[in-house]
Amino acid sequence: MERYNNIIEFDEISSTNDYSMDLVRREQVPEFTVVRTDFQTKGRGQIGNCWVSNRGENLLFSVILHPSHIPANNQFILSQCVSMAVCDTIACFCDNVTVKWPNDVYVGERKIAGILIENLLISKMIETSVVGIGLNVNQTSFVGAPNPTSLKLEIGQDCNCKAVLELFLTKFRECYEAISESSDAIRTAYGQHLYLLNTVSSFKDKNGVFKGAISAVGDDGKLLIIDENGAHRHYYFKEVEYLHPHFDR
Ligand code: BTN
Repeated sequence: MERYNNIIEFDEISSTNDYSMDLVRREQVPEFTVVRTDFQTKGRGQIGNCWVSNRGENLLFSVILHPSHIPANNQFILSQCVSMAVCDTIACFCDNVTVKWPNDVYVGERKIAGILIENLLISKMIETSVVGIGLNVNQTSFVGAPNPTSLKLEIGQDCNCKAVLELFLTKFRECYEAISESSDAIRTAYGQHLYLLNTVSSFKDKNGVFKGAISAVGDDGKLLIIDENGAHRHYYFKEVEYLHPHFDR
């Protein structure tokens, strides 16, 4: 393990999110402490999925925050802030970067980064947030992921993982500090970067398959889809599925 400038680095660890959570339970951890590893043996994704990543090829890290200024019922703003900082970072290398609601980052039709935010709440406030990010940097072949991409696949050359991390941290600090003043700019930017925004596509909810277009995301994080009949349908995470082609690379 190596520690410098609030960055704790490992060659191998189970999961940077799990390590970060254990750390904040054991000791006081300064805000913006970063836990980064070259390899995870139990990397976790959304909805109980695994996050699998080749050794040393990608960015796998967690940022520890104490967002005491964000009420728990407004926690989606943190997700928007992280998503936009990841988008802005990737946009330094390639075009057509979007956020597939709620917080997968896409280049074109392919996923380049995933975000897993886990919170410790005290009464109605977020005491600690562990913001876990897996960003595909130099990996070029993937097993199991349906439509992955990486910076190297997009731009045709290797990127320095640590430089990409530094870029992200600068952008994330800016966004994070900005939301303590006002959330408006981040909400607007997030809304403008939605994957499939205003594009008629197929979706599936508990009542079946339908066609509609993503129109916006509410402050509460609910996705608004306007269906073919003009009806407004609102969804929390996991209540609706995107039906779009899967790709083989
Ligand atoms: C997803 O898209 O399902 C979210 C993936 C999040 C993966 C990152 S890698 C670093 C951090 N540690 C984990 O175990 N998960 C997150």
